[in-house]
Amino acid sequence: MENDCLSILDKRTNTNYEVPFYKGTIRAMDLRKIKTGAEDFGLMTYDPAFMNTASCHSSITFIDGDKGILRYRGYPIEQLAEKCTFLEVAYLLICGELPTAEQLKAWVNKVTHHTMLHESTKHFLEGFRYDAHPMGMFISTVAALATIYPDARNIHDAESRRLQMYRLIGKVPTIAAYTYRHGLGYPYVYPDNDLSYTENFMNMLWRMAEPKYQANPVLARALDVLFILHADHEQNCSANVMRSVGSSQADPFVATAAAAAALSGPLHGGANEEVLRMLDEIGAKDHVPAYIKGIKEGKGKLMGFGHRVYKNYDPRARIIKQTAEQVFEITGKNSKLDIALELERIALEDEYFVKRKLYPNVDFYSGIIYQAMGFHPEMFTVLFAISRTAGWLAQWEEMVNDPEQKISRPRQIYTGHEIRDIVPMEKRGSSAISTSRP
Ligand code: SDX
Repeated sequence: MENDCLSILDKRTNTNYEVPFYKGTIRAMDLRKIKTGAEDFGLMTYDPAFMNTASCHSSITFIDGDKGILRYRGYPIEQLAEKCTFLEVAYLLICGELPTAEQLKAWVNKVTHHTMLHESTKHFLEGFRYDAHPMGMFISTVAALATIYPDARNIHDAESRRLQMYRLIGKVPTIAAYTYRHGLGYPYVYPDNDLSYTENFMNMLWRMAEPKYQANPVLARALDVLFILHADHEQNCSANVMRSVGSSQADPFVATAAAAAALSGPLHGGANEEVLRMLDEIGAKDHVPAYIKGIKEGKGKLMGFGHRVYKNYDPRARIIKQTAEQVFEITGKNSKLDIALELERIALEDEYFVKRKLYPNVDFYSGIIYQAMGFHPEMFTVLFAISRTAGWLAQWEEMVNDPEQKISRPRQIYTGHEIRDIVPMEKRGSSAISTSRP
């Protein structure tokens, strides 16, 4: 115990405590023995937004924010993006190892045969306004799947959990495509099991009167790479929600819907849509300096920049930038790329951003590619959610199997009123009696 513990002197009681280190942390519960007396609840930690709190063990994703390193199950993201397909990576995230050819064939077959939606889902989607945001429709429809598959509540049954994973990974592209077609007033296109995961997604999005959809292979592969890059990112905001909702033993459909809701925020997965709005607002390359000046004066944030963990270039942004070149060879160059490149060039030289270690993140270039491929900005976060469903399910499976995990229920520092009596209605509001909030 000599050197592998923290020695804490509580000067309130002049008592010394030894708290053992645990894998580079200390267990917060070990602090509860630090008390001023028998009545004292014991010491807690205060960590709003969990800036410095490990909530779980995980072996899924490793990030080194200072070095700009991202690995899924130990494999560098650069190798996965170059050598694998998205469904292969989804298997890796969930099962822990890359699949053999036979395992991958069975996995793809299972997912492919769960791409159809129950017909009642189409009627559910019809209830949305024509201009409903696709992310709102996506979240609601994923949650509604829980009403179609009540067996998903058997969260302690490994086979049932795996079946729900096939259903969710298989159906999220179909739901996404249906939200897109609903917004355009186009008829839904059923899945085509002859096509790959991304080709089928493109088929359900863009097939019109032709009998068989022919996906551009470069664009299909670019989408597959983008799905790989977005698949997981350890304990990000939405993964934390997936684990927290799952910790109450709610089914994986409502937990995935909750995680997607967290992802929709502009500080998280909604940033890619905001990046496009920002580039549209800037309008031209020579407007960039004035825009950056405004950001430095506190007029908003540079969307697609900054990260809670990466204090170096987000490795995903680097790969996306390379992928953009391949997409633009097919779609034609996008003027927004010139604005984005100028924004990045200036920001990376500017002390304001350098001092705060603000680099482009995964959302900075992804939106430009998606738009060039024909997606409306409102679909960008839905694309993020399709891919991240695999990561959320991997995090959920790990949480369900972790013997240390219990229902998530943080503590608080209470700053409200002490006990007080109800004031009769006729006396409320009089200046003598304070009924204002603390
Ligand atoms: C994703 O967690 C994940 O892993 C998420 C994700 C994933 O794969 O799951 O990687 C995906 O969500 C990427 C992030 C997408 N969001 C954006 O691009 C929105 C813009 N970025 C910021 O809102 C911000 O950078 C966050 C939310 C991403 C991170 O914020 P933090 O870690 O809470 O940092 P902070 O807000 O405390 O900022 C520290 C300083 C502040 O300045 P000061 O108060 O010190 O003067 O940096 C400034 C901030 O104002 N700052 C920015 C900025 N981001 C932070 N200033 C201008 N533009 C920005 N983008």
